[in-house]
Amino acid sequence: MSRSAHPAGPRHADVLPEGHYSGPPSDLNVLDPKVWAQTVGRDGDGVVTVGGVDVKTLAEQYGTPAYVLDETDFRARARAWRAAFGSDADVFYAGKAFLSRAVVKWLHEEGLNLDVCSGGELATALSAGMPADRIAFHGNNKSVEEIERAVSAGVGRIVLDSFQEIVRVAHVAESLGKRQRVQIRITVGVEAHTHEFIATAHEDQKFGIPLAGGQAAEAVRRALKLDGIELIGIHSHIGSQIFDMSGFEVAAHRVVGLLKDVRDEHGVELPEIDLGGGLGIAYTSDDDPREPHEIAKALTEIVTRECEAARLRTPRISVEPGRAIVGPTAFTLYEVGTIKPLDGLRTYVSVDGGMSDNIRTALYDAEYSVALVSRTSDAEPMLARVVGKHCESGDIVVKDAFLPSDLAPGDLIAVPATGAYCRSMASNYNHVLRPPVVAVADGESRVIVRRETEEDLLRLDVG
Ligand code: LLP
Repeated sequence: MSRSAHPAGPRHADVLPEGHYSGPPSDLNVLDPKVWAQTVGRDGDGVVTVGGVDVKTLAEQYGTPAYVLDETDFRARARAWRAAFGSDADVFYAGKAFLSRAVVKWLHEEGLNLDVCSGGELATALSAGMPADRIAFHGNNKSVEEIERAVSAGVGRIVLDSFQEIVRVAHVAESLGKRQRVQIRITVGVEAHTHEFIATAHEDQKFGIPLAGGQAAEAVRRALKLDGIELIGIHSHIGSQIFDMSGFEVAAHRVVGLLKDVRDEHGVELPEIDLGGGLGIAYTSDDDPREPHEIAKALTEIVTRECEAARLRTPRISVEPGRAIVGPTAFTLYEVGTIKPLDGLRTYVSVDGGMSDNIRTALYDAEYSVALVSRTSDAEPMLARVVGKHCESGDIVVKDAFLPSDLAPGDLIAVPATGAYCRSMASNYNHVLRPPVVAVADGESRVIVRRETEEDLLRLDVG
């Protein structure tokens, strides 16, 4: 479609809410390495490539929409986390961000452990050969059946989330003739600076046992008395998409405070602490995430300092990054279907997916970037909103972004940093089929999670 058919629309300043992009980038063809996977670039024709494969080929071969995952980048990030924490600490990848058998295999090969939070995630981990003792099992309401499976499989730890669960896990383990290693998840009362739905350390929410009022100390007291469980440490996860290390500092201070109280009361020094995940990534060029080695250094220093002050042996630290490993490694590839310029407002660009493959914008008001990837363009920037094909006006993938004003149906656009919590939170809303995950590395591509089919949908609908 010609450029004149899609006028550039208003200049951003009139309509962009405060805190959003300050203006169009000087060159829309440039892909900011902060938000794109490591091996992404453009070939001589201006087509975006990843892992040596161009997106037009990927779209032809696998269709759109598709999540395209850079395996080289995933492995590099996993390795960087592993190396940053060294052999005195453990890195548990949080499977909830995105889990598949290929991912489990990569994690295993790169020396990471795995955090699962449901029977389904546990089954995926075990079926792909993750050794059970490298798995941590989370959740605020694990069923007895899930607990039995986890204990029988021999998972390395179960993270206890309530008073009932302390007894429940001890009971199951005893009845299976086992002693299960456990941690207790506590809430330390930190207000993490992130969206309310992904902040988890303030007291008024469903996770963990509050430190306040002596509840966490009481949980430890009860756990230490039960034969079926071996209490190995305390767990704290303060929230997600966090850039500011001060929340972790307060959390570590309070967790170590509890370890000290436990030592004073019981004469027991718990050997481990887990500080959870939650480290932020760049969704747009405005975000400035920290590198794993900076995070490792900061966390290790905080814990060591606090323990020295409390005259405790420094416990083994573990962390559970999900988004920070997988988030930046994938983008969602869409085909543009319709383009609707609204005078004085913005241009609505409809793609062949939407809130069923990325619910984060609707759910958390998340911000994303977007780029034209099947070609370059020197056309004027237009203020665009990328929307999906669902019957819902909140079906927005990218709220405010600049795309070239000569954008046309059939163009491929891609939304970067969709590796975490997009496929794993995908739905079948409107019976739209969930996209495949295509892994790319060294000039080769392969499907690691296939596209859903109408047969898949109908198989569940037993009539
Ligand atoms: N550990 C625990 C105990 C967690 O609950 C979580 C995330 C993680 C680790 C990993 O957090 P990450 O490093 O990935 O931020 N659906 C939301 C995020 C929910 C996070 C739930 N728990 C989103 O799309 O932003």
